[in-house]
Amino acid sequence: MSGGPDVAGAHSLPASFEFGVATSAYQVEGGWDADGKGPSIWDTFTQTPGRTAGDAAGDRGCDSYARFDDDLAMLRELGVDTYRLSLSWSRLLPTGTGALNPAGIAYYDRVIDALLESGITPNVTLYHWDLPQALEDRGGWPSREVVDWFGEYACLAFARFGDRVQRWATLNEPIAQWMGYGVGRFAPGIADPRVGRLAMHHSLLAHGRAVQEFRASGRSGEIGIVLDIWQREPATDAAPDVAAALEGEDNGFRFFLDGLLGGGYSDRIVERLTAEGTMPEVREADQELIESPIDYVGVNVYSRVVVSAESDLAGGWAQSVEHVGGNFLDNGLEFYPKAVYDAVHMLLVDYRWAGPVFITENGLADGPAAANAPLVDDERIEYIAGFLDWTAAAISEGFDIRGYYCWSLMDNYEWATGYRQKFGLFRLDPETFARVPKKSAHWYRDVIADHRSRRDSGAGDSPECSPNATGASSPL
Ligand code: BGC
Repeated sequence: MSGGPDVAGAHSLPASFEFGVATSAYQVEGGWDADGKGPSIWDTFTQTPGRTAGDAAGDRGCDSYARFDDDLAMLRELGVDTYRLSLSWSRLLPTGTGALNPAGIAYYDRVIDALLESGITPNVTLYHWDLPQALEDRGGWPSREVVDWFGEYACLAFARFGDRVQRWATLNEPIAQWMGYGVGRFAPGIADPRVGRLAMHHSLLAHGRAVQEFRASGRSGEIGIVLDIWQREPATDAAPDVAAALEGEDNGFRFFLDGLLGGGYSDRIVERLTAEGTMPEVREADQELIESPIDYVGVNVYSRVVVSAESDLAGGWAQSVEHVGGNFLDNGLEFYPKAVYDAVHMLLVDYRWAGPVFITENGLADGPAAANAPLVDDERIEYIAGFLDWTAAAISEGFDIRGYYCWSLMDNYEWATGYRQKFGLFRLDPETFARVPKKSAHWYRDVIADHRSRRDSGAGDSPECSPNATGASSPL
């Protein structure tokens, strides 16, 4: 090992457990108008002064559109089993529907083929926040037509890439639609709660439609959705804090889980949104579409949020005493690795979901120490090790967690905070775009290699290591 904490729990991970890293199209690709790509709402948003930290636009991302070979070299160096990426809708369909962009198809063909040739399983998210601007101009997520637009796009993706891609996600964190339309901090920058709730409801409909397109395509493989599950803890037992914590969870993830797995929006949500005048119109067949069966739940988990009724930030998005839901706001992050274990418990207890789960994102932005030693990221190592230990603990109790994706492969464009927050295992040189491994990249590589050697020796497969044989029972 190259130093850093041992991951005790990793030794008990099943042989089939997969290690990966994650990125998203807008955050890494660049080439915002290259070769026929249409603009997305994030292009428009970040090119508008006053929207992002330091007015940094994401036009170049990490230049992966031109440098995917460099990305592949990093993935191979890490030895990951799987790479989570997203497709840029407007690179494939420049105006969102209708005419295809052949160069966009060719780009993703090349990426997918190169991954497969390297033995890396692509995990492809259809939508990671970058709606084609042309569709925003036609009403965007608040328009119900988005369900058809997304269906057309999904159908295209399955037709073109479904012969090789076996793991799909429809949406990454649809809470981003609330941030974009309800709060205005994300693209397209609209702050209208009623519009935001509509966008959230339509996201779930569009998700369901994509799942149905996948089934109808006859393609093999699995499809799920990726949700941001940071549980809220009331700061005290006082009723206002408890209520604030519940409201935070309703906003953050329960709205989506209620629809997907809970039979419909809870009475609590319906009553509150109705009282606020923001309850979206739910038509008769909506719920059936939303709950189209999925194959796995993708969980993005970075920490928990401690909530106090006294601070009310971001229009009900999050309230926190010590730190505020880190990845959306430029604040500190509590190290609370049990969050991953708590999230799968919650899925089981509250939503009876005992099916497959992937930890689709987990990671840490560089702290102040990185200013002097950008490559010595001991905090990140400790952070990931902690989450892997709690992942292993959950698996040993019978939870079906199939893999872990570290966010992120390299420092990249971190949405409204520009390039300021750096989540990479590899450092991105801001001038040259060169990728340089941090200490955590070496450490993660060794964790993966260790798992692989145990897998190759059959260790994780032996009957005495299987959860049932060690006495662990299924959580159900
Ligand atoms: C998002 C990523 C983002 C990460 C870190 C997640 O919520 O899916 O796009 O970069 O958090 O903030």
